[in-house]
Amino acid sequence: MSAVLRSVPNFEPMQPEDIGAVLAVEQSAYPFPWSRANFADSLTSGYSAWCCRIEGELVGYAVMMLVLDEAHLLNITVAPDWQRHGYGLLIMHHLFGLARTHGAKRMFLEVRPSNVSGQGLYNSLGFETIGRRRGYYPAGEGREDAVVMALTL
Ligand SMILES: CC(C)(COP(=O)(O)OP(=O)(O)OC[C@H]1O[C@@H](n2cnc3c(N)ncnc32)[C@H](O)[C@@H]1OP(=O)(O)O)[C@@H](O)C(=O)NCCC(=O)NCCS
Repeated sequence: MSAVLRSVPNFEPMQPEDIGAVLAVEQSAYPFPWSRANFADSLTSGYSAWCCRIEGELVGYAVMMLVLDEAHLLNITVAPDWQRHGYGLLIMHHLFGLARTHGAKRMFLEVRPSNVSGQGLYNSLGFETIGRRRGYYPAGEGREDAVVMALTL
C-alpha cells in the first residue's frame, strides 16, 4: 500500500441508528445509491455490516454476506473526502479477517465495468474476474452489466 492512513480508525458493527449517517455518505458516493431499506434489510438479515470511524466521523462502511464457506461483498464505501488514503484497503482487510474466522474460503463481489476506483481496489488485492452478469445495475440509459470477481481467502 503506498497510501498512508491519516489516522487509525475503529470498526464497530453497523446499528440501525447509524443508517442516517451511512445513507448521507452513500448518496455522496454513488450515482445509484442503496436506499435506507437496503441497509435496514441488511441488518435485519444479519449480514456482517461495519462502520469505520475516526473520532466519531464516518470514514467508510461495508456490508458482507457470509454463507457457509463463501463471503459475498455487497457494499464497500469510503466517504469521498477520505478516499485514496488506504481506508478502502483497510476495510477490505477487516472483512477478510472476519470472513476467514467465519470459515469462508472465497470472497465474491460484483462491480460496474465503469467503476474505476472499485476495480482498482479489487485488482490491487488480487481479485480475479470470473464472469459477467448482463444488465445487473440500473444506469443512466437502460442497464449496466456487472463484472463478477472472486478471491481465494
Ligand atoms: C472503491 C473505494 C471503496 C476505494 O476506497 P479508497 O479508500 O479510496 O481506496 P484506497 O485508498 O484504499 O486504495 C487502494 C488501492 O485501490 C486502487 N484505487 C483506489 N481508488 C482508485 C482510483 N480512483 N483509480 C484507480 N485505482 C484506485 C489503487 O490501487 C489504490 O492503491 P494506491 O492508492 O496505492 O494506488 C472508494 O473509491 C469508494 O468508496 N468509491 C465509491 C463507492 C464504490 O464504488 N464502491 C465499490 C462498489 S463495487
